[in-house]
This record gives sequence, structure tokens and C-alpha cells, in this order.
Amino acid sequence: MPASSSDHATLVVAVDGPSGSGKSSVSRGVARRLGLRYLDTGSMYRAMAWWMTENGIDPADEDAVAAVCDRPDIAVGIDPEAPTIAVDGRDVSGPIRTREVTAVVSPVSAVRAVRDRLVALQREVIGSGGIVVEGRDIGTVVSPDAAVKIYLTARAEVRALRRAAEISADPVAETHRTLSEMRRRDAIDSKRDASPLVKADDAVEIDATDLTLEQVIDAVLDVVQARTAASR
Ligand code: DC
Repeated sequence: MPASSSDHATLVVAVDGPSGSGKSSVSRGVARRLGLRYLDTGSMYRAMAWWMTENGIDPADEDAVAAVCDRPDIAVGIDPEAPTIAVDGRDVSGPIRTREVTAVVSPVSAVRAVRDRLVALQREVIGSGGIVVEGRDIGTVVSPDAAVKIYLTARAEVRALRRAAEISADPVAETHRTLSEMRRRDAIDSKRDASPLVKADDAVEIDATDLTLEQVIDAVLDVVQARTAASR
């Protein structure tokens, strides 16, 4: 029997994976198709990193970051058609995607106090479910009981090309630079002590290298169908 949207009222779909694997497009597509809310946890870490740079805090100074990370008021919108992110009432959806913020977000997100605060906020938003949540530690830390866990990967060159196409009109020239920055960021995200990027034991891995966006969304929906049917 196909699942109806009421079956999904308490569903949490966790989508983790490295940068550029297509998590945002896939997660938004899945949320749209299932009529669920959507939470981009990466935008919250970016918002925190943006606030640090705006306020003259050295992002590499772990103690300084930890001391002030409870100050910014971070508000995240959960509509998959138009996700929003604001800090102290200011829309920062543009500024958090700049190269400057991207360069400092990994060290800021490795600070335990930052993670403790943002994970608590994320759990508040997730509430009793009905949501697709993307990040690095959703299936392992934020929502370990999520009924559906996806680990989305793609070959590094493909991820770099996608990221470069998002930020530059000359993606081929941009890809080399993006690839080395991305590898650096992936290494920090994967090796940090606090909630490193790892695949949860019960996550389904999808390699998006040779798949279209629609094919990946369909693959995730197949997992949702199988897991919700199994739990009935
Ligand atoms: O998905 P993204 O590129 O917007 O994420 C930005 C950074 O935030 C990334 O370098 C790792 C960090 N992040 C994290 O540590 N945990 C999450 N749940 C989401 C993102």
C-alpha cells in the first residue's frame, strides 16, 4: 500500500554527506514530493561563522568562538520552496554563501560549544518530525532515531564541478580551486573530534556521481517507502 502524507507526520528523513554531493537539491526535492518541512543545518553553521567574522572574532580561536557563540539569534525557515536564514533579524542567505564564510565555516563548526547550541536549536525545529534534515551528523547525533537515513556521496571532481557552477560563470576555471578548498573542508569535517562526518551504520548510501537529480530523489523516496512500510 503506498504511504500517504499522514504516514509522514512524524517522519524524519536524515540526509548526510560531504559538501557538493547534492544534499540541498535532493533534500528539498524529497520534502516537496512528500509535503514535509525542510531544514538545512549547514546554513545554521554558516550563519554562526558569518556572525563571528562580522564581529571581529577570529574563527580559528576556539576559545573566543566558544565564549560568544550563544549571542547571535539564528532563525531558520523550513519551507522547501523558499528556505530562509536570519541572524539577529537580518536576512543572511546571500552573505553566508560567500567564499569568505565558506573558508571559515569548518573551523567554527568544529567547536563543541557551537555544535551543542546549534544541535539543540535543530532538535527544537525538528520537534516531533515531518521533516527532511540535511547536514553532516543528522543520522548519527542530531536525530539518531530518524526512520530514514541517507548518506549521499559523489566523486570529488563531480562535487567540485557542481559547487563551482553555483559560484562562478566560468566553472571549469573555478573547479580546480574549489576542489582543493573542498578537500580541505571535507578533511576538517571528517577528522574533527566533535561529531565528525561519518556514515551512520543504518544509513543507506547513495552515490550520485552518475545519477540525475530526479533519479537521486526517486532513490530516496524508494528508501522512505521501504522503511515506512517495514515499520507498519
Ligand atoms: O552543507 P554546507 O556546505 O552548507 O555546510 C557548511 C559547513 O557546516 C560544513 O563545512 C560543515 C558544517 N556542518 C556541520 O558541521 N554539521 C552539519 N550538520 C551541517 C554542516
